[in-house]
Amino acid sequence: MTDNPLRLRKIHHVEMWVGNAKQAAYFYRKAFGFRQIAYAGLETGRRDICSFVLEQGQAKLVLTSSFDPESEISRHASLHGDGVKDICFHVDDADLTFAKVVECGAEPVAEPYDMQDEHGTVRRATVATYGDTVHSLVSDGKYKGPFLPGYVEDIVETEDAGLLRFDHMVGNVELGKMEHWADWYSKVLGFKRYIQFDDSQIATEYSALMSIVMSDNSYSIKFPINEPAQGRNKSQIEEYLDYYRGPGVQHIAMLTSDIVKTVTRLMDNGVKFIAVPDTYYENLPERVGEIDESIRDLQPLGILADRDDEGYLLQLFTQPVVDRPTLFFEIIQRKGSRGFGEGNFKALFEAIEREQARRGNL
Ligand code: FE2
Repeated sequence: MTDNPLRLRKIHHVEMWVGNAKQAAYFYRKAFGFRQIAYAGLETGRRDICSFVLEQGQAKLVLTSSFDPESEISRHASLHGDGVKDICFHVDDADLTFAKVVECGAEPVAEPYDMQDEHGTVRRATVATYGDTVHSLVSDGKYKGPFLPGYVEDIVETEDAGLLRFDHMVGNVELGKMEHWADWYSKVLGFKRYIQFDDSQIATEYSALMSIVMSDNSYSIKFPINEPAQGRNKSQIEEYLDYYRGPGVQHIAMLTSDIVKTVTRLMDNGVKFIAVPDTYYENLPERVGEIDESIRDLQPLGILADRDDEGYLLQLFTQPVVDRPTLFFEIIQRKGSRGFGEGNFKALFEAIEREQARRGNL
């Protein structure tokens, strides 16, 4: 992390604004294996919001709803549905980082302020990114509380699913805006353009998209940014933008060290994944070569594989976890590869076509 001018240490937490935080917390605990660690609400003196903090591995997920129908949180939930509001960074000095990013062109949402309780003080500031999404900057010095000031410890244990940390978080932006936001991450946060895919690489005729991956130098914070591309039918990115009513976080990828175990657990818990046709596995050995796992283990779970020059990765995407066809999760295991599974767009599409051909419909 030497060349990291803003000293973004890591993702402190991801906060979703939702319609019913209590039920959302139950879902992420029971389905995804997060344990609850903290709470803020009426019982803790908050008259306006209800907020649960969940944790698994190093990942913290915050679910917040509001009691006031006119509040920003309620309006956000009404307009976008449940969705990611804040990807919050842990920084050394929120004031300094805020000053730098604003100087580099970030739009301020909240000037640095103190959050305080009996466990100490935290400095927090917020800037805007794509759509209504924001990045908060938190420096917590010697803060000793369970999460952030205002939250009390409230532990609900859960059997975890082996999720270790956030691997990457993908933003969908409007047609023509991908370059703008890639530049923003480079100019404002000092990220590097890591990989770029255009529609010739990951277009399927049904769901074309273009993507630029922005990453900090340590590769610990990675933000791919997608925009729709022209396909035969409506792009999945366009569908997202229509239902989310604008740009926002499309998927949260979580790292595991044993994807077979993790996906098995999530499926047992009722998490629904995208359907992968058996035909996908027909050319898998030629496409990815030798891998440690057996196709016999991967195929029944629909786990996808992709290889690049550094190694391979295994991944699988859930169906949307909210009512609208917007936010979903990805489970990813990396075996050397630092890619994002771009070979799978084409491979999956071709597998679906092979199925279609067998039905005589191609
Ligand atoms: Fe992804």
